[in-house]
Amino acid sequence: MRVLPAKSLEGSITVPGDKSISHRAAMIAAMAEGTTVIRNYASGRDCASTLKCLWELGVPIEVSGTTVTITGVGKQGFQKPVGPLDCGNSGTTLRLLAGILAGQSFESILTGDESLKKRPMYRIIEPLAEMKAMLLSPFNTAPLKMRSRLPLRAIEYTPDVASAQVKSCILLAGLNAEGSTRVIEPVPTRDHTERMLEWFGADLDNLGGSELTARDVDIPGDISSAAFFIAAAGCLPGSRLEIKNVGINPTRTAFLDVLRSIGVGIDIEEISADGPEPAGNITVTAPDQLIGKITIEGARTAALIDEIPILSVVGTQTEGGIEVRDAKELTVKEVNRLLVIVDTLRSMLAWVKELPPDGFMVRQSKLSGAVAHSFGDHRIAMAFAIAGLLSDDGVFVEEPEWVDISYPGFFDILESVTKR
Ligand code: S3P
Repeated sequence: MRVLPAKSLEGSITVPGDKSISHRAAMIAAMAEGTTVIRNYASGRDCASTLKCLWELGVPIEVSGTTVTITGVGKQGFQKPVGPLDCGNSGTTLRLLAGILAGQSFESILTGDESLKKRPMYRIIEPLAEMKAMLLSPFNTAPLKMRSRLPLRAIEYTPDVASAQVKSCILLAGLNAEGSTRVIEPVPTRDHTERMLEWFGADLDNLGGSELTARDVDIPGDISSAAFFIAAAGCLPGSRLEIKNVGINPTRTAFLDVLRSIGVGIDIEEISADGPEPAGNITVTAPDQLIGKITIEGARTAALIDEIPILSVVGTQTEGGIEVRDAKELTVKEVNRLLVIVDTLRSMLAWVKELPPDGFMVRQSKLSGAVAHSFGDHRIAMAFAIAGLLSDDGVFVEEPEWVDISYPGFFDILESVTKR
């Protein structure tokens, strides 16, 4: 896919439903009593993997466009699947489902594509083992074989890594544990699981004793998908872009603060939504010039983890560039994003320096055209498509179809708001 340089971005768009929230809505609806209607369910392949796995676990599901109707089977009412559950490319599907399956009385196998089979799973194996679930794998990676001795034991757990997936896995397992399971987070991460559990009636102080009752949910647009458009509009002087109905959960909006700090105009008009998550219409206006430096380290790295690829591209456009540290988690995403960001920006002739062991810095640079491989990573594909808009003579994105993981139609929407 060739993305040519742009003058500005103008217009009004919506983005697909939030991926993180959609996974949770579907899984928690499946564990509830009664029928839930989920509106604006994420259209990407990751959230389709979640529905497919739930279907294979005996959950009745109807899909009509982006409306998904799920009839809950109760906390322990899932059926043994006929074969391994294929989570595709989706870490959230695998790690959260592991929490649910830990509380079922049958054996099951969780697996995924080549990328997912390389991602670290010890982070969920350890706490689930403490809860008396058995996850077997010779290498601490998927495929994971799940077997449990029920009832599970409630635990109080402090994870080593800042990961919403690990936290959510434990909380979902906690629904089937005797007593109260708690996760103490060293660094706060997105709280969608906690919000969704409470929306369905769970008591977070007594997860094991909680019953879940079906309740319809509106999913707001995905701020991590909107981020590519917000960044592009912010970097191209003269741009004015509205993105309607975007999730503005405070655990996800650090990206907006970063852009504001370098001079991008961001207005948010809050709108009402039938669900546990706040939503708003976001209007982005570009300054004539971006000023200041972006610094991402410590707790901020966790809050911005999915936005670092696009912020690295933004870093080439602001006066002070960008410095990223404490980003080890970037190396275990769909691809080693740290490596790919550094290499691809260099191929565009940006000034980039590695900051070992897990960081890098980028100075304000003119971007020249390049071929950017997506390496099977949706966010890398989209970040470097935006780099194409900002470059001298465009970017060829190789294997652009990976954007379908979270944002089918990304390139068409981008083209529809691009002025040249
Ligand atoms: C997610 C949590 C984050 C994030 C991923 C989605 C979630 O992963 O990078 O895109 O939905 O819980 P980690 O929990 O591995 O940090």
